[in-house]
Amino acid sequence: MNPRELTADVVVVGAGPAGLNAARHLAAAGHDVVVLEARDRVGGRTWTDERGGVTLEIGGQWVSPDQTELLGLLDELGMETYPRYRDGENVHVGADGVRRRYRGDTFPVPDSTAKEIARLTELVDDLVAAVGATEPWAHPRARELDTISFGDWLRRQSDDEEACTTIALFIAGAMLTKPAHAFSTLQAVLMAASAGSFTNLTDECFILDRRVVGGMQSVSERLAAELGDRVHLATPVRTVRHGDGGVVVESDRVTVRAQRVVVAVPPPLFSRISYDPPLPRRQHQMHQHLSMGLVIKVHATYARPFWRHDGLSGTGFGTSTLVQEVYDNTIHGDDRGTLVAFVADEKADAVFALPEAERRAEILASIAQFLGEQALEPIAYYESDWASEEWTRGAYAASFDLGGLARYGADQRTPVGRIHWACSDLAAEGYQHVDGALRSGRAAAADITAALA
Ligand code: FDA
Repeated sequence: MNPRELTADVVVVGAGPAGLNAARHLAAAGHDVVVLEARDRVGGRTWTDERGGVTLEIGGQWVSPDQTELLGLLDELGMETYPRYRDGENVHVGADGVRRRYRGDTFPVPDSTAKEIARLTELVDDLVAAVGATEPWAHPRARELDTISFGDWLRRQSDDEEACTTIALFIAGAMLTKPAHAFSTLQAVLMAASAGSFTNLTDECFILDRRVVGGMQSVSERLAAELGDRVHLATPVRTVRHGDGGVVVESDRVTVRAQRVVVAVPPPLFSRISYDPPLPRRQHQMHQHLSMGLVIKVHATYARPFWRHDGLSGTGFGTSTLVQEVYDNTIHGDDRGTLVAFVADEKADAVFALPEAERRAEILASIAQFLGEQALEPIAYYESDWASEEWTRGAYAASFDLGGLARYGADQRTPVGRIHWACSDLAAEGYQHVDGALRSGRAAAADITAALA
């Protein structure tokens, strides 16, 4: 069957939050827009679906107070949020393997380590304030900070290993989902700056503040509903032909002729599309320096939120444990209790090498270290495995390797002729989050509207 031929002013590739927000703003500016999405659903890395009789946030879910673009959109769409359950004591498993209950935002570690954590936090906060999120590559120390791994940098500041691994966790395992030796200090600074400060990242009550009633994917579903039949699902784009006369975007089912294209897919997938003529040397190189992190988001549901009856919030942290973070993730209005736990980077590699049943047993045993034996027997269990997804290939998002941000950052969003780029992984504020995706989509739409005026 020959692909259907369409014409539009702008084609958007990818119906995640970035692509859909680009399309929304383009349509609002009066442009005829078509969105082509590879999957049979919208939302990209946000996906609210049922597994084993439980509604789960398989991908992105939390909203923090700094995410004003997302909060503004939720308001505009009349959508509501609810707070994450956090009453009661948290649990920390220390480097000594001992489980301790605590309240407040200081981990129950030896006094000297607590002081080092506070000192390192201040150091990182100062760097973040000096460098900022908008153009980290333009800072006079950019190259210096981009050529030392965050892990090495921390160990140059402190010889307290537990303090270093604790600080590293907030950015390595918890955000970029790469080992702290695999990304630079500049990249770490961008991650923190994009959330307002490093302290914000370490405060789970801030960064994991609220959730969307109906699920985060419903934001994309609402945007797609506004666009109606301009959104084409199950339509992976294969080729973008571009030149002075316009663009021709080819997929298996639809070919669209337009003035401009927004490529709104994760950066490691930019090169899954063929470009004719090929992209310039700089883009070919730059895109090879951006890679996805790896994290398993584990969902375990119980007949009751048993930890609450034990005076626990469900929140737990450990740098030496398999599960690095666990939270109460019970869905709005559900009487059952759901926990979400995260296993990142090399620990994820190790458990992915195990047979499924063994992996599940190890992960549940690790959750039980925090919350007790009852965690071993969930009524439903599911592992989000985004790295196996053809149209994502990792989680949560993409970041540069050592030296990449200083070298290429300034060009990452620069259009190539009529090709524009949008993705949370290219954002400043809201980097790697839905908020950043929305911002980057809006920015691409504004550039195109200006160009077409
Ligand atoms: P996204 O990847 O979402 O969308 C890109 C779209 O392009 C996809 O729909 C894909 O199918 C499509 N596509 C790819 N190639 C294509 C092709 N060739 N042709 C057509 N379509 C193509 N964020 C947050 O704010 N709070 C949170 O709590 C979390 N937590 C979290 C957990 C997990 C497990 C994940 C995986 C992610 C998060 N995130 C998050 C991150 C958040 O989900 C992410 O930043 C946004 O979804 C990114 O939106 P984009 O539109 O930029 O890309």
